[in-house]
Amino acid sequence: MTMAVTVESGDITQVQADVVVVNLFEGVTEPSGGTGAVDAALGHLITDELAQSQAFKGKLGDTLCLHTHGKLPARWVVLVGLGKAEKFDDTAIRRASAAAIQACKTLKAKTVATLVHGAGIGGVAPDTAARLVAEGSVLGHYEFTKRKTGKDAKGEAKPEPLAHQIDRLILLEKHTEKHPEKYEALKQGCQLGLDIAAGVTMARDLVWDSGNHVTPTVLAEAARSLNGGAISVKIYNQEDIEAFQMGSFLSVAKGSVEPPRFVHLTYTPPSGKARKKVAVVGKGITFDSGGISLKTNDWIEVMKMDMGGAAAVIGLFKALSARDDLDVEVHGFVPTCENMPSGGANKPGDIVTSMSGQTIEINNTDAEGRLILNDAMTYAQRHVKPDELIDLATLTGACLIALGYAASGIMGTDQPLIEQLRAAGDRAGEKLWQLPLYDEYETFLKSDVADLKNAGNDRQAGSSAAGTFLKAFVEEGQKWAHIDIAGPAYTKQATPEAPKGATGVGVRTLFYYLYQLPGTRA
Ligand code: BES
Ligand code: ZN
Ligand code: ZN
Repeated sequence: MTMAVTVESGDITQVQADVVVVNLFEGVTEPSGGTGAVDAALGHLITDELAQSQAFKGKLGDTLCLHTHGKLPARWVVLVGLGKAEKFDDTAIRRASAAAIQACKTLKAKTVATLVHGAGIGGVAPDTAARLVAEGSVLGHYEFTKRKTGKDAKGEAKPEPLAHQIDRLILLEKHTEKHPEKYEALKQGCQLGLDIAAGVTMARDLVWDSGNHVTPTVLAEAARSLNGGAISVKIYNQEDIEAFQMGSFLSVAKGSVEPPRFVHLTYTPPSGKARKKVAVVGKGITFDSGGISLKTNDWIEVMKMDMGGAAAVIGLFKALSARDDLDVEVHGFVPTCENMPSGGANKPGDIVTSMSGQTIEINNTDAEGRLILNDAMTYAQRHVKPDELIDLATLTGACLIALGYAASGIMGTDQPLIEQLRAAGDRAGEKLWQLPLYDEYETFLKSDVADLKNAGNDRQAGSSAAGTFLKAFVEEGQKWAHIDIAGPAYTKQATPEAPKGATGVGVRTLFYYLYQLPGTRA
């Protein structure tokens, strides 16, 4: 069940809720605004606690739970740190909101109330503030419990319950009747944040779930569920993919008993006016064993996440499915299959012909992402002729090694596009770091027998080598950016807004980019 988030008029000291959340900048000892009002109602419990506490200093994402002892209608107050005032930004709002919701979960709250535009957040435009609080709260509330029954062998509920769900989050604003425009802005910002978060949630659910559940067929059906309104979805099967002559994609798929799918999603602006056409392509390997070049490292059991790029594309369309106000024609492409070792699988040394006509020597069957992406990119360029082509893929372990979970790698043929995506990522709370596509890397991919080979002979510049391979399929003059999300897609380093495991990375960057959403500093 999802947590309902609503903007309402009311006073933070009067509101009927199980928990009231208030915030504080680092180092502040005398709270003002809503936090000050709650402090006064509590007989200065907050001020006293701040004077004595070693545990809570208002650091970003730190929380302190205080019992109200009947001094407020709410049973608990959660105080959340906003960090240093001079470092305050979009990420701080999302993180503080997410941390607060997590504290409310530990208190088993059903209804939570917080100020949406009060102390701290007051300097930010109301719609931006509401959007970020809604986004952060839903992202922090998220847990993947779909595959847990919570029952023992006798079918009885275990004493340790499944994740606690908060039913309702109220974003409060005082005297909205006096400020109808502001109230409207808060409501619209909140809805935008919820739509974005719903997209991220869908992407997380798809990435968390296992390879036996999220097969290529199931992934395609998840995309199909978005069909309707401004979105249309077409799904192509094995025969269609053969007719498209996607020999590179098919060569990966043929190692598995699961049939491949190729998904084309389209968002057509209901206004009929599109300022540009953007194609996004997502790698949809539902399990990457490495193929005959079988993986031997620790990463193999998390290779269900190798469809993180596809999940980002589908999640983006999930977010768009709730909206009718984007003035961009968006095309999403998802080539999806498994990479398995079998008697029918690609063999190292095999030579395949891509849809582009170029032949590829497969010297490493574990470099399969680029084999499915190149055909999807060719299809996108030929069939929709996009102004901009963006691909997202959990493409290389090298990118994870270079940048960690903290950032995705970005590279491409158009510097302004790369810079705009990086800026959108910063506002979205998803870092992108540019890696080069130097001409020198082309020598890695020289083949004696085919037009190019799919992997270098050694491990140098692995992410750029993969990017260089993809670049060979980018047509003259095409603006293209490649985003390698291998690090952030599935993380062991949790933040409140992106708990461990599937993060849904990419959805927000793409959405913020397409909508040109402003940041806290506009
Ligand atoms: N799916 C992997 C990349 C990956 C590794 C993603 C770890 C997330 C975490 C990709 O298909 C792969 O195996 N790439 C190879 C390329 C190499 C064979 C040139 C790699 O990174 O080792
Ligand atoms: Zn691989
Ligand atoms: Zn892979």
